Amino acid sequence: MSESAKLTIGSQEIELPVIRGSEDEPAIDISKLRASTGFITLDDGYGNTGSCKSDITFIDGEKGILRYRGIPIEELAEKSRFVEVAWLLIHGKLPTSEELRGFSDLLTQNQNLHEDMKHHFEAFPAMAHPMAILSSMINASSCFYPGLNDKELRVDRFPIHSARLLSQVRTIAAFSYRKSRGLPILYPKPELKYSENFLHMMFSEPYRDYQMSDVVVRALDLIFLLHADHEQNCSTSTVRMVASSQANMFASAAAGVCALWGPLHGGANQAVVEMLEAIHADSDDGSRFIRDAKDKTKGKRLMGFGHRVYRNYDPRARIIKKACDDLFDALEHSDPLLDIAKTLEKAALEDDYFIERKLYPNVDFYSGIILRALGIPTEMFPVIFAIGRMPGWIANFKEILEEPHSRIYRPRQIYTGQVNQSYVPVDERS
Ligand code: SDX
Repeated sequence: MSESAKLTIGSQEIELPVIRGSEDEPAIDISKLRASTGFITLDDGYGNTGSCKSDITFIDGEKGILRYRGIPIEELAEKSRFVEVAWLLIHGKLPTSEELRGFSDLLTQNQNLHEDMKHHFEAFPAMAHPMAILSSMINASSCFYPGLNDKELRVDRFPIHSARLLSQVRTIAAFSYRKSRGLPILYPKPELKYSENFLHMMFSEPYRDYQMSDVVVRALDLIFLLHADHEQNCSTSTVRMVASSQANMFASAAAGVCALWGPLHGGANQAVVEMLEAIHADSDDGSRFIRDAKDKTKGKRLMGFGHRVYRNYDPRARIIKKACDDLFDALEHSDPLLDIAKTLEKAALEDDYFIERKLYPNVDFYSGIILRALGIPTEMFPVIFAIGRMPGWIANFKEILEEPHSRIYRPRQIYTGQVNQSYVPVDERS
């Protein structure tokens, strides 16, 4: 007997099917609700609404669990690397050594932008935000690959389209940084791995290569890996929304970049460091800021704290915090912002306001501090997040591409505007 839920509306009682995910998460399937009752549901911010079924990532917000294709993030953080995790997310299993080598080669073969793309970079003002450049240039790059829009080719050529996007997002990001500093752009080197090549394109000089350090490369690769996917967050839902109209992969990712940019989402890592810098500049030990963050009239939030799903410590924040300490020890580096962040975390976790609301550090609370130590400028932090999230966006795009009866995403609304209005000639209006 399949599980169902009963709904009574006035004298009408209907049964709605209950479905359960592979981790036994329950859901009421309301696909037939409007047809059978005329009612829709309303859910501010989609906090109680599942938009899809997905096999990619599982989060248990109460227990602070995150798994990519069933593998705990803690294991992947310790034992895997970003490119291997990208394959896992996109293809649903860990790659064989041959698959990994082939994927790595495909990323290398597709890491250069079309030469004509350089003209687009020239057109941006130096102070252009790199997220604006990234979103624009992903779409600009798609213009050189007309096959992206071809229904058959989109499936047959998915491997090269996805390799181009995953590899070029890194090249575009580094070029935008060099352009913003008036530096000559540096091309990727075929012999360098994913994260090394990004550091090379960002920080090498025409006359001297960036001195790679394993601990720095590992820290950046870990940051990319920890950001690789996170189920139906704001930007991934945006990617799926755009993909559902059968727009191409690059257009869907470019839309994801725009959604990620906001300070409530992927822009929070930049906002956290700006918050810590302001606290430091105010010679505040954090207590004044926490007091203001609790006072709604102040319009301040403890950025990097809180999460729509996690009602416990974000497992990624725990890993990044430790990686921060390890990196600082290895580089014999210190940063007053790390000390302030730890003071803030301790105070907030002991404060009833945050405890009652189950507000814990999220992935963005410590990530910016690591990125500062790697020499990455603050405005580039959301771009690093976007590079890391690209495999998750590609994997979600692929789920829609391969769904046999994929439907366009088109939510309903409840209209609350004016009724029964007529046109009024301009000279009769007040
Ligand atoms: C990411 O979804 C994902 O998976 C996202 C992400 C991913 O990997 O894709 O994990 C990445 O975006 C992490 C979140 C980064 N954003 C921030 O750090 C910005 C600061 N955090 C908040 O703005 C907030 O916590 C959100 C946006 C993350 C979640 O917002 P919700 O779920 O809509 O919660 P809410 O705004 O309704 O807050 C509930 C209560 C409110 O107080 P009351 O009205 O109950 O009195 O908690 C308060 C809020 O005022 N609150 C905070 C707070 N976050 C929530 N108060 C102070 N500081 C905060 N950070």
